[in-house]
Amino acid sequence: MCGIVGYVGMRPALDVVLAGLKRLEYRGYDSAGVAVLADGGLATAKKAGKLLNLEKELAERPLPTGPTAIGHTRWATHGAPTDANAHPHLDNAGRVAVVHNGIIENFARLRAELAARGHESASETDTEVVAHLLAEEFSSCADLAEAMRLVCRRLEGAFTLVAVHADEPDVVVGARRNSPLVVGVGAGEAFLASDVAAFIAHTRSAIELGQDQVVELRRDGITVTDFAGRPADVRGYHIDWDASAAEKGGYDYFMLKEIAEQPKAVADTLLGRVDASGSLTLDEVRISTSELREMDKVVIVACGTAFHAGLIAKYAIEHWTRIPCEVELASEFRYRDPILDPRTLVIAISQSGETMDTLMALRHAREQGSKVLAICNTNGSTIPRESDAVLYTHAGPEVAVASTKAFLTQLVACYLVALYLGQVRGTKWGDEIQAVVRELSRSSQDVERVLDTMEPVRNLARSLADKPTVLFLGRHVGYPVALEGALKLKELAYMHAEGFAAGELKHGPIALIEKDLPVVVVVPSPRGRSVLHDKIVSNIQEIRARGARTIVIAEEGDEAVAPYADHLIRIPATPTLLQPLVATVPLQVFACELATARGNEVDQPRNLAKSVTVE
Ligand code: AGP
Repeated sequence: MCGIVGYVGMRPALDVVLAGLKRLEYRGYDSAGVAVLADGGLATAKKAGKLLNLEKELAERPLPTGPTAIGHTRWATHGAPTDANAHPHLDNAGRVAVVHNGIIENFARLRAELAARGHESASETDTEVVAHLLAEEFSSCADLAEAMRLVCRRLEGAFTLVAVHADEPDVVVGARRNSPLVVGVGAGEAFLASDVAAFIAHTRSAIELGQDQVVELRRDGITVTDFAGRPADVRGYHIDWDASAAEKGGYDYFMLKEIAEQPKAVADTLLGRVDASGSLTLDEVRISTSELREMDKVVIVACGTAFHAGLIAKYAIEHWTRIPCEVELASEFRYRDPILDPRTLVIAISQSGETMDTLMALRHAREQGSKVLAICNTNGSTIPRESDAVLYTHAGPEVAVASTKAFLTQLVACYLVALYLGQVRGTKWGDEIQAVVRELSRSSQDVERVLDTMEPVRNLARSLADKPTVLFLGRHVGYPVALEGALKLKELAYMHAEGFAAGELKHGPIALIEKDLPVVVVVPSPRGRSVLHDKIVSNIQEIRARGARTIVIAEEGDEAVAPYADHLIRIPATPTLLQPLVATVPLQVFACELATARGNEVDQPRNLAKSVTVE
C-alpha cells in the first residue's frame, strides 16, 4: 500500500508533491521519490529509507521547479527497498516517469519481452516495465493518456499508476485497477493521490476514480475514460473529513481502517501465487524443492498474534503434508535447547520483521544448520534479510499496535506454504491444491460478509464494558482463535481475558464459571469433524448450566448451537482449516469496540509498541 501524489497547476509542483507525501507518511514506507517536468525535460530524485532522506537529497541537489510533478512513498512488494528500486521509474531515454501502487502479476513476461526489444532494466521492481511500455506506446501515439490506456490493457494484477512525459509538460496521467486513486479538483490546478490526505490542504473537491479508468489532468480540466478510451461518467464529492481523519480513511482509528482492509489484504496476499497451470509459485521461497522434500520436521517460531497464526498453521501443515510441526514461542525457543538439524524447516512469522525474540530464535536455528523461511509483512526488514527464504504478506502497512489484517494475511501465507510443501512433496495433488486455493480466493468475500454484520457485536461489546473478565473457548483451529480473541481484549481493553481449549474446561477452568460470566465460544463446523462439534455443544451446555453468558460464533446453518447461545454470531461456512479467517474478525471488532467503550487509546494501547525490538 504505497503513497502516490501527482500535481499540475500554478504552484511549485515539487513543493505540493512533497507536502502530499508527508501527509501519506502514516502509510509507512521504506523509500520515496519524486519526478518534476521542467525546462523541456524530466528530473528525478529518489532515496531508500524515510522521506527525510529524500528531503536531504533534494536540499543537497535541488531539482528544477516546474508546474508538473509526481511522487511516491514505497511499501515494497517486489524488490528490496533500495535507491534503485524506489519510485519513480523511468524509461531508458529518461522521458517517462511512473509511480505505482499494487502488484503487476505478469511483469516477468513483460520484462522479458522488453529486454528482447532492447530495453534495459535498472531495478528489480515490477513497476519499471510500465515506464518502458509507456515510452514505446507514446512513441507511436504521442499522447500519454492514450499510451496509458494501451499499456493498462496489457497488465494483469492490481495496479494504480501515475505517470508524466517530458513531451507533455502540463499533463499528469493516472490509471486505476483495484488500488484507490482520487482526483483533487482546484481552480487552475489538479491533484492525484492514493487518498485525499495528500491534497486536502488545497481542495476539498474530489473525484474517486472507478475500476479500470484512466484520468488525464491538465490545468484547465480533467478527462476520465475507461481503458478502451470511452468517456467515463464520474461524480465529484466534497471531502468533509479533517486531515487527521483523512489519514485514517475517515475511520476514528487506524485499527478500524485496518480491520476493514482485511478483504483486500487477503486478496492481495493471494495475488500472483498461482501460475497459468494452477501450480503454486512462491517465487521468494529460495529453498530448493529437493531440500524441501528432505525436510522431516517443521518448527514455527513467533510471538503474540503471529504465534497464534503459527498454531493454526500447524493444523494445515500436518494435515496437508504429514510432516510433524512444532509451534514455539520465540522467546522460549532457544532456551529449551531445541533439536534442530538441516532437515528441520524453521518458519519465522513476523509482521514487523524486527521482533527481537523471533530474530534471535531464527539466528539460533540457522546456527544449528536449519533452513529458515520468514513470513513477513515488511519488505527488507531484518528477519527476512537474515532468512534463507521469505514469503511476504501483502497486508500493507499496519499502523495500529493490535495486529488484525497482518494476522489474516499470515494465515493465508501459512496455508500457501503448507500447500506448497504438499505440492513439492507430492502429498497433495494439483487438483486438491487448486480446490483449496479456490476456497482461499473466496475467503476475501467471506471476510467482507462478516464485516457487514458486525453491528450486533459492537452493541454486545459496549454492554460488557464493565465486566472484569471474558473467557474464550475453542477446539481444533478454533482454539488458537480463542487465544487470539483473548489477546485482543487484553491488549486493547486492558481487561483480564483467557483463551482455553474447550476440552480443558473439565480439567480446571470450569471452576471459573459463575453467573453472567461472558464466555465466547468458537464453534467448529458440523460439516468437518462432527465429533468436535458435538463435544463443543456439550461444553456450551456445561457452562450455561453454571450461569455463563454464552457468546457463540458458529457458521450459518448450524442450528444445534442456537438453544444454548445467549448471543449468536454467524459466520460464513468455510472448510474446516480456513474457518479462522472468518471466525477471528468478530473477535477483533468485539475487542476494539469494548476498548473504545472504556475510553482507551485503541491504536496505541498502554505499555505496548508496534515492534518489540528488545528481548
Ligand atoms: C498483536 O496484536 C500484538 N501487536 C503483538 O502480539 C504482535 O503480534 C507480536 O509482538 C509479534 O509482532 P511481529 O508480528 O511484528 O513479530
